[in-house]
Amino acid sequence: MLAYRHAFHAGNHADVLKHTVLTQVLRHMNAKDKPYRLVDTHAGAGGYSLEGRYAQKKGEFEQGIGRLWDRADLPEAVADYVAQVRQFNPDGRLAQYPGSPAFASMLLRPQDQLRLFELHPTDHRILESYLGAARHVEVKNADGFDGLKSQLPPSTRRAVVLIDPSYEGHGDYGRIVATLRDALHRFAEAVYVVWYPQVQKVEAAQLPRRLEALTPKGWLHARLTVQQPDSQGFGLAGSGVFVINPPYTLHDRLAEILPYLVDVLGQVDDANYLLEQRPA
Ligand SMILES: C[S@@+](CC[C@H](N)C(=O)[O-])C[C@H]1O[C@@H](n2cnc3c(N)ncnc32)[C@H](O)[C@@H]1O
Repeated sequence: MLAYRHAFHAGNHADVLKHTVLTQVLRHMNAKDKPYRLVDTHAGAGGYSLEGRYAQKKGEFEQGIGRLWDRADLPEAVADYVAQVRQFNPDGRLAQYPGSPAFASMLLRPQDQLRLFELHPTDHRILESYLGAARHVEVKNADGFDGLKSQLPPSTRRAVVLIDPSYEGHGDYGRIVATLRDALHRFAEAVYVVWYPQVQKVEAAQLPRRLEALTPKGWLHARLTVQQPDSQGFGLAGSGVFVINPPYTLHDRLAEILPYLVDVLGQVDDANYLLEQRPA
């Protein structure tokens, strides 16, 4: 059963990290004219109202994009991310938050391809009505882990794959590893971006090392911790992004912005970040 709805979490600190990294990866891909395919295996609804009852329930966006929206001191890569969110809010008021498909649709060029998988029927319907008719976009109401197989290798011979599951059960951790093992076999050259939650589960703690073990060339791992788990050990302390075949510019970009994000998004004194990589 699919209970997770990203509308509750849209624009939180985890989305800030994930979408800032995604923006930087796509900027790097765009530096060459040659087309590429972006596969988003867990796409969500595509965009979210921040004024609706889901987003208002816990107000998570207020501790994420809300803390960045009016700042005048944004470092370049964060400013680039916030500019995309502003583009999604043409009235100048923070009322909507773009999901990963919306970032993709704002950043991809006419020659690029977008492939979106979303299993939840409601979110799929919203996504289909938002992007289903767009050129070079395919929206599929199908399992993204399984669906990735049909997308690799891409006809473009360049690709970015975003794997951003909901981690509802324990199964997603194992499926990520199995899916990436297969995907790297089919197309080792893609940039693979995996988001994971920083929660008190052994599977979450082990995931970066498991991904590192199956990565043949370079990888980068960034983690942003903004709060403590609650007294029972629950809650999202932060999140991480593991990138296989990262753009060579990404490490330095993140080294510039992660200390800033700790300062601005940190909710406890010991908020912190981790940035590590193995160059290709
Ligand atoms: C974290 S949300 C995605 C957020 C989105 N990538 C973004 O950044 O805006 C995870 C989504 O995956 C969907 N989902 C869960 N299992 C799936 C599967 N096996 N295949 C495709 N989508 C799935 C959920 O319904 C949910 O909308």
